[in-house]
Amino acid sequence: MGASWRSPRPPPRSTGRCGSWHGVRAEGSTSGFAAGDVVVAEDDRFGLTVVEAARLCAAAGPGVGLATRAAVEVAGGDVEASPSDQLELKGLGSVEAVPIGPMLVRRPTAPTTVRPRLGAILVTDLVNSTRLVAPLSREGAEALRRSHFGILRGVSDRHRGREIANLGDGLVLEFASVTSAVEAAMAMHRGLTRHNRRADVELVVRTSVAAGELSGLDQWDEPPLARSLALQELAGAGEIVLDELALRLTSDRAREAVESRPEHPEARLVRWKHTHLVPLPTQMAAPQRVGFAGRETEMEVFAKAWGAVVAGTSKAVVVSGEAGIGKSRLSKEVALGVFEAGGVVLHGRCGEELAIPYQPFVQALEHLIAHLPEPVLAQYVEQYGGALAQIVPELHRRIVIAAENPSPGVDGRLALFEAIAGLLKVVAGLEPSVLVLEDLHWADPGTTLLLKHLVRSINDTPLMIVGNFRPVALDEHHPLAATLADLRGEQNIERIVLTGLDEAGVVGMVTEAAGHELDHDAIALAGRIQHECGGNPFMVNEILLHLVETQGVVHTDGGWKLATGSEPLRIPASVREVISQRIARLGEITQSVLRTAAVIGMVFDFDVLLAISRHDEDDVLDALDDAVAAALLWDPSDFDGRFSFGHAVFQKTLYEELGPTRRARTHRQIAEHLESSAQVRPAELARHWSAAGAVGDRVKVCEYAQLAGEAALGELAYEAAASHFRTALETVDLGDESTRIDLLLHLGGAQRAGGMAAFTSTFQQAAALAHD
Ligand SMILES: Nc1ncnc2c1ncn2[C@@H]1O[C@H](COP(=O)(O)OP(=O)(O)OP(=O)(O)O)[C@@H](O)[C@H]1O
Ligand SMILES: [Mg+2]
Repeated sequence: MGASWRSPRPPPRSTGRCGSWHGVRAEGSTSGFAAGDVVVAEDDRFGLTVVEAARLCAAAGPGVGLATRAAVEVAGGDVEASPSDQLELKGLGSVEAVPIGPMLVRRPTAPTTVRPRLGAILVTDLVNSTRLVAPLSREGAEALRRSHFGILRGVSDRHRGREIANLGDGLVLEFASVTSAVEAAMAMHRGLTRHNRRADVELVVRTSVAAGELSGLDQWDEPPLARSLALQELAGAGEIVLDELALRLTSDRAREAVESRPEHPEARLVRWKHTHLVPLPTQMAAPQRVGFAGRETEMEVFAKAWGAVVAGTSKAVVVSGEAGIGKSRLSKEVALGVFEAGGVVLHGRCGEELAIPYQPFVQALEHLIAHLPEPVLAQYVEQYGGALAQIVPELHRRIVIAAENPSPGVDGRLALFEAIAGLLKVVAGLEPSVLVLEDLHWADPGTTLLLKHLVRSINDTPLMIVGNFRPVALDEHHPLAATLADLRGEQNIERIVLTGLDEAGVVGMVTEAAGHELDHDAIALAGRIQHECGGNPFMVNEILLHLVETQGVVHTDGGWKLATGSEPLRIPASVREVISQRIARLGEITQSVLRTAAVIGMVFDFDVLLAISRHDEDDVLDALDDAVAAALLWDPSDFDGRFSFGHAVFQKTLYEELGPTRRARTHRQIAEHLESSAQVRPAELARHWSAAGAVGDRVKVCEYAQLAGEAALGELAYEAAASHFRTALETVDLGDESTRIDLLLHLGGAQRAGGMAAFTSTFQQAAALAHD
């Protein structure tokens, strides 16, 4: 046949087992040309692509070449597209071959204008590739090869990498951004870990990233490439090694995961295992005082649901139960398990006081947008547009979005819902994800509509939505009640009704709190506590804290001991009693500061509190520290100027301890302070002016409620907008007909946009009033 083998470039390394051809051509009077990855063994046994080229060469007639369809695609414009033939080739079966004219092999041509650029080279290497492949059949080896390269190339494409070469057991990729290269390396490791959980043969790679100037002339002579290849030898299985420059240029996120290698000062190691695609939301990261106890049956339901999720089906699990029964804790334990397995955890909660539209989704998505790698966001925006920025403006700060005019009404909202579903799909496609939505009994109607949309529209995505709510707070008009009724027939929804811990569960909890096995007396006490509070874990905790604070239980060298006294241990009857007693044990100033904070809300700004508190800064800070130590406030692990009560019942108890006049006056003070601050929050202002009652200001309630309604309209939260306009209508001055008409028109507009039938009667009322 007289053929010789040509490739655009010689193999990059002398190990002899790799080649890096975009195409392979058999030269001679006739030609065969095939394209693909080529693996060349040391002993000259050629890979599949080379064999294809040889067979095509043999099959071609004089003066006419044959090429595979892939080769024609690689050659692009250089080859005239002729109709293809199916040829039977020895050993290869039926192959689609395209006749081609006198040869048009594409060689890499030096670009006419060479522009040096900064870039990064990522090199991957499959660890123990020979040993992995040896016991496999040809088909098995091919399947493994496809999985390996499929995962690497998928990641590379998502991060806009350009494949320079296939090394047989790895890829050489170029990236225009160092951060993209490092993010891609981390994503590859994560992708392979995910693959390994399901596969018989584990794929582990080592990777290296080197940055530097790329001349664009001859890629094999580029210094970053040579450096990346050399560095790779230093990486262990599952590790990423960076050179100094890559380390300096990459994102903080990757830098946080870096460890130095003293033995090789030129190389820095990124321990990718510590690096999640998205970090744990702070609310989920806060440490718990008492270890998790009981709930075996519920955890089994979750384990089953998660199994389905990892296999690619979405699931929703709705947990209901009374206050303090452990809904949030159960959701948190599930989320932590997901995180440990490498998944993404998203978290949002509905607030009682502030009807921020789509509040839990906004919280969850803000965290996501703040932390997703830029290439992922860029691709998301390319695919789904920038509609999400309407409720998460943070998106604008992360990425440039083409200006879009959102369509009003139901269509605009559908586009927003699709954009949210799209982002969740993109993220869950990268890592199985869990989205925890807390306190749905306070959800605004927009949130429940969105929830319904997601449960129905996301089916084949590894996403688990965990929602929790208190059923007592739902009447038949509650938007969540309607949503749950609508979703009754859906296959992918599970329900858990949480009841109190049984005796073993409470013994488990007390054991966790004590940190050691319980003696006979303590087990008996746990039994009594279970009996008193029906195993409600919140109550169990509060009773234990009360017992410790009143020295009914004492710490000794041997661990927890019940105090010995003539009095039998008294367990307070109600949770309010326990909490009031615990608050009363705090100092005067602490109590006063906390009561003021309770008027601001469940979550409060330190600055607002300081401004309206009668105490100086040190006293307020000390008071808050005491309250955190007494577990009445959350420990703000990354302080952003806001504090939150540990539980709504603490806030309520403190709030109600203030007399009605003090309460009203404090609301007024808060409202006045908020008005003077730079950022006006109309919904909050309307709430405080309204709660100020007799010392409040109805005109202001009306004005701010109208502003809040308009803001909600801008966020496509039509139900919330309607509710604000209704508040405004309730407070508008009776004589002020023009404002009343204006508000009715606004209300009707919100109702019509949100698809609410009431809009016709609202418009009729406006028309009647105008007519009069
Ligand atoms: N199984 C458990 N083991 C140990 N502690 C638990 C358990 N379940 C709940 N707790 C603790 O009990 C307290 C109340 O639980 P949690 O906040 O989860 O209740 P909840 O049902 O979400 O209440 P709410 O409806 O008020 O939000 C928390 O401090 C929580 O850590
Ligand atoms: Mg909760």
